[in-house]
Amino acid sequence: MSSDLSEQGTSASGAPRSRSVMKWVLMVGLVTFFAGLLFGYDQGVIAGALAGVKDSFKVSTFASEVITSWVTLGALVAALVAGIAADRYGRRPMLLVAGLLFIAGAVIQGVAQGAEVLVVGRLITGFGIGFASVVAPLYAAEMAPPRIRGRIVSTYQLAITFGIFCAYLISDLLESSEWRTMFLVAAVPGVLLIITTMLIPESSRWYVKVGRGADARRSLEKVTEPSEVDQALSTVQAEVADETADGEAGWAEVFSPRMRKALIVGIGLAIFQQITGINAIIYYADKIFESAGITSTAAQTKATLYCVGLTNVLATFVAVAYIDRFGRRPLLFMGLIGMFVSLCAVAMGFATQSTVDPGAGTSIVGIITMVGLVVFIASFAFSLGPVVWTIISEIYPGRVRGRAVSLATAFNWGAAFLVAQFFLTLTDGIGEAATFFLFAAMCVLAFIFVWRYVPETRGRSLEEIQEMWEQDGAIADWEKTAPRH
Ligand code: BGC
Repeated sequence: MSSDLSEQGTSASGAPRSRSVMKWVLMVGLVTFFAGLLFGYDQGVIAGALAGVKDSFKVSTFASEVITSWVTLGALVAALVAGIAADRYGRRPMLLVAGLLFIAGAVIQGVAQGAEVLVVGRLITGFGIGFASVVAPLYAAEMAPPRIRGRIVSTYQLAITFGIFCAYLISDLLESSEWRTMFLVAAVPGVLLIITTMLIPESSRWYVKVGRGADARRSLEKVTEPSEVDQALSTVQAEVADETADGEAGWAEVFSPRMRKALIVGIGLAIFQQITGINAIIYYADKIFESAGITSTAAQTKATLYCVGLTNVLATFVAVAYIDRFGRRPLLFMGLIGMFVSLCAVAMGFATQSTVDPGAGTSIVGIITMVGLVVFIASFAFSLGPVVWTIISEIYPGRVRGRAVSLATAFNWGAAFLVAQFFLTLTDGIGEAATFFLFAAMCVLAFIFVWRYVPETRGRSLEEIQEMWEQDGAIADWEKTAPRH
């Protein structure tokens, strides 16, 4: 999706100016927004709903983990097929499928009379998230005018964080016994996603790929100034011709030695984004606050809403504003340091709690945990959250981008699944302190990984990024020689 993020073809095209173009760009933005919102909402809702579900169905810790984590399992499977399906059937049909899955999942979860049916609903919602997480940014990046495309990925992340915030807000407004309503609410943006998707045109790039030039022009005419349509169309045609010159790229090409470094960077980042603990906190925030001694459910939901939900949204703005100014690596380094320090603080808080009189230690641990989680979430939100998705979207050559992005996304969900599935078991087994120290240790590994393997892609065109992969030597050497923009 990111030749878009390169400078290619940007010269003649600019940000939208005429009213009609503005209207269509806004529609594209809305579709991306609803997809991100649903993604976030369905991830975040479990934090508030879990307590009520547990009361209704009297489920074990393991079953709670399954109810929480099977969303990510569904997302993993769907992410793997989403790229290929979107290439075969188009972006719009896949967005419609995602919308339908979101609605079906919401209804099944909302009316479930037992844990098994609830898990089926979670899985279906997960399929929706998996499709949306691959197809929505792809569609948006292909349809947005070049000059504003760079902002799309972090804006998409913003929609995700807003979705999580909305889920927390609804949980705060409702009693935990009203968990069915919490799930059902997701059907509303699902319907809105379907309505807006029906109004938007299919991606012009997809039309060009399948040889429907006239349709591609009609689609481009909606989001491009009339005087720039010809230029935009020939740019897309040239790019697609280039990408498909040697026929369709298959999985063999994705796994070829030439792609190895880029594959390791994308998959490594995708995994580190999860094993440093973000979704343990997004999903289980209420429970973490409870363990830290915040006993009232109302206080837990408030802490989750503001410390996690609101901080996440606000700090993502920092990334949107600075990702192209500071660069990817500095944001990752700063974020990982903040995450490391805060995780250690939370871990130390929990460690102290178990060694001192619980009555006396409780409130201090509660405060440390709250402050620690604010710093953790903020550090993640301006770094690993958006930057990982941005890098993944820009490091692969067009020919293999769809498959490679799907693969990295699937690894991301796979790692998210492991964390969601085993977090409670881990805290039951080795305790909160050790678990948070483990996440902190992963931050150290992530730091070393970024330091050694992840190139700075800020301001570089796709071609320069591809040339870089072909050079031997460490990232640091390339850093010195590559042009600055
Ligand atoms: C991650 C999600 C996470 C979200 C939190 C995203 O970048 O991929 O797993 O829940 O950030 O804001």
